[in-house]
Amino acid sequence: MDEILKGKLHAKSDPDKVGTDFRRLVTRTNQLIDAFVNQINERRKMEEVMEYNQRMESIGTLAGGIAHDFNNILTYISTYFDIIIRQLTQGTIEHESMLEIQKAIHRATDFVEQIMTFSRQARQEKKPIQISLILKEAVKLLKATLPKGISVRNEIEITDIYVMAEPSRLYQIAMNLCTNAFHAIQETGGVLTVQLRLETRTGNENNAACILSIEDTGVGMDSETQRRIFEPYFTTKPVGRQGSGMGLVVVHGIVSSLKGTIDVHSTPGGRGRILFVDDEENIGK
Ligand SMILES: Nc1ncnc2c1ncn2[C@@H]1O[C@H](COP(=O)(O)OP(=O)(O)OP(=O)(O)O)[C@@H](O)[C@H]1O
Ligand SMILES: [Mg+2]
Repeated sequence: MDEILKGKLHAKSDPDKVGTDFRRLVTRTNQLIDAFVNQINERRKMEEVMEYNQRMESIGTLAGGIAHDFNNILTYISTYFDIIIRQLTQGTIEHESMLEIQKAIHRATDFVEQIMTFSRQARQEKKPIQISLILKEAVKLLKATLPKGISVRNEIEITDIYVMAEPSRLYQIAMNLCTNAFHAIQETGGVLTVQLRLETRTGNENNAACILSIEDTGVGMDSETQRRIFEPYFTTKPVGRQGSGMGLVVVHGIVSSLKGTIDVHSTPGGRGRILFVDDEENIGK
């Protein structure tokens, strides 16, 4: 007990080294220590999750303010851009250069829109949404834009699954995860699988979980990358071209607002990288 009071929570007595009379007492004490340590570990985990969510919320508020100001500036730039480009002759170096600037403006507008979506999540209106329809639409768009060598496998098992959400947010989850999967297989080619299924937890259908899984056969992630993927601005891609490091932050924010959970399974170089979205509470049929 002295050891435990000194903070060595795992310190235990060996039941085999004491007399029979004490053996049961020592075993029971050891069980109590295990329960005690488990409780402390659980509490630490909960505190970490709460701290993470609070951090995300304040980043969201801050980012929302900045994005809003940026949006105003971009509107200003776009308006003057339109006036100038209309006066240039197509095919000239000036016109070509302006088209490059236009691409950058579009990318900046998309980026700002993503940040604003992330910070608006707390205030969105939710309604029952047939999630399979949203996914099918996302898969259709993907199939149309993906290059040859990449195939999309559609494994949407049950179609009448409803979740309480906003369609554009669900669409964004699908698009951000699928874009990541596509980036992971674009060099080598491979398979991108979109799966939607219902998992009954306790034999009671009202307690079913809707599971969305986006899997790819691409490059995978090492454990350091996996640990950091939900951090804002964390990216392993060329910054500005493919990666801003906000895609999964946005997904995490939306999933949390749906009271769902998100899980990652990946190994570097191996097959089967999966991102799960598990929306338990909001399911309704
Ligand atoms: N399917 C995947 N396979 C391998 N690595 C992945 C996958 N999904 C995410 N990652 C890793 O997680 C990082 C963060 O992903 P995230 O979507 O947040 O940002 P990003 O894709 O780099 O940029 P963007 O903001 O444009 O989405 C990626 O840079 C990549 O290293
Ligand atoms: Mg991404």
